[in-house]
Amino acid sequence: MIRKLFLIYTFLYINGSSSMKLENNKYNNYKYYYVKGDASALDHVKNYMLDKDESFLYIGDIKSAQVIVPPELNSAFLEIAKNDKVNATLLYDDIAEVIRAEKPSILRSKKRGFSWDAYYDVNDIYKYLSNISKTYPQWTEEIVGGKTYEGREIRGLRINTPAAEGVEKPVFFIESGIHAREWIAPATTTYFINQLLTSSNPNVTRLRDQFDWRIFPTVNPDGYHYSYVVDRYWRKTRSISSNGCIGADPNRNWDYNWGQYSSSDNPCDYQVYAGSRPFSEIETKTLSSYISGIDNLLFYVAFHSYASLLLLPYSDSTEHVHNYEDLVQIGKASLEYGYKVNEEKYSGPGTAAETLYKASGGSMDWVRYALNTPLVFTYELRGSSFHWPAERIPEQGEEVTQMMLGLAIEAENLGYFYSDSSLSLK
Ligand SMILES: *[C@@H]1O[C@H](CO)[C@@H](O)[C@H](O)[C@H]1NC(C)=O
Ligand SMILES: *[C@@H]1O[C@H](CO)[C@@H](O)[C@H](O)[C@H]1NC(C)=O
Ligand SMILES: *[C@@H]1O[C@H](CO)[C@@H](O)[C@H](O)[C@H]1NC(C)=O
Ligand SMILES: [Zn+2]
Repeated sequence: MIRKLFLIYTFLYINGSSSMKLENNKYNNYKYYYVKGDASALDHVKNYMLDKDESFLYIGDIKSAQVIVPPELNSAFLEIAKNDKVNATLLYDDIAEVIRAEKPSILRSKKRGFSWDAYYDVNDIYKYLSNISKTYPQWTEEIVGGKTYEGREIRGLRINTPAAEGVEKPVFFIESGIHAREWIAPATTTYFINQLLTSSNPNVTRLRDQFDWRIFPTVNPDGYHYSYVVDRYWRKTRSISSNGCIGADPNRNWDYNWGQYSSSDNPCDYQVYAGSRPFSEIETKTLSSYISGIDNLLFYVAFHSYASLLLLPYSDSTEHVHNYEDLVQIGKASLEYGYKVNEEKYSGPGTAAETLYKASGGSMDWVRYALNTPLVFTYELRGSSFHWPAERIPEQGEEVTQMMLGLAIEAENLGYFYSDSSLSLK
């Protein structure tokens, strides 16, 4: 087996505030393929390539598989794919090029601050939250939902406009970016925050006023930062296991049926290591405790990418929760609202077990099971890879804004809350 050495060029520069940045050049000249074929052929290709190079990256699920091919393995890959009748479509010829285009140029970010035509690192997202909370100090505040292994805070924004005397609004919680490489999730979430705060569309201002919002754009900031500066396809946290391998999948680490489906007990698994025990990760432990402390939690919504899919609890069972029919009706309304924006058709709503694959230890399932939160949804946003063009972030941002509107409108129709006077949960 060839032990692959990654060359990580560290590109240093000094900007106005003398901070240093690492640039993610690990994937110079790597190619990104979308592959299709029958399961055994795909498996054969994967194992053949892993045998040539253990760092070969294969990201597969039921719907599709993506492979990341280093330049020196490209011809071997094409040959085995051809022999095995696996259809390989080249999505990106040079991944490093794609990653560069996702980030703001240094000049632009200095001139314009935060925007939705580029992807930003954690510190910039946090600066945006802080800036926006100072712009609307009467009804927004920065909140901290937990801590991370590397000592960051999981920061979010609370938006809670004044309500009539004695009225306690239902809480709408948004969790985003638990998987580090799904960059469109945090970008869409800050876009949505911006809509809630600045839109003059009366439907959106009404939505803003109906809830006590707790919105966390990136609940795995260590992983996101690592994905931003070193390895674009990093998914996990950054904790160090006893055997030296790094990270656990934070969406396999929650204390509900932990470790059963679609999770690994190998700390070196690049994708779905479930952690050494439920809530072994400080991120999930602290965030779950923050969520437990919220009274009146009505909506819990998580954003992932990519699949254009709306998932309902539970992810590891085909059994339905008692208000499943309501969740379907509310979810359908959400998708109809979203569809009006770009005519993008989402699959679902349905349980992950029925629409994608069974997975255990996810946040949505824990929230539903442990806290009995009535309305719990996971969106897999759009795309055909982990790279969604930065200049098209607003498309998904608008779609998500409408999808949240659809959720609220249908939930109100079904009597889950009454926005004007007294509030009653089912
Ligand atoms: C194979 O890939 C080509 C694009 O390169 C596509 O047009 C075709 O539909 C694919 N066939 C199958 C069976 O997936
Ligand atoms: C801070 O917020 C204000 C008002 O929303 C905006 O005009 C300004 O550009 C923001 N600054 C940065 C650095 O994002
Ligand atoms: C507000 O929502 C209603 C009902 O869905 C819709 O007919 C109307 O066009 C929306 N208004 C705006 C400004 O989007
Ligand atoms: Zn995900």
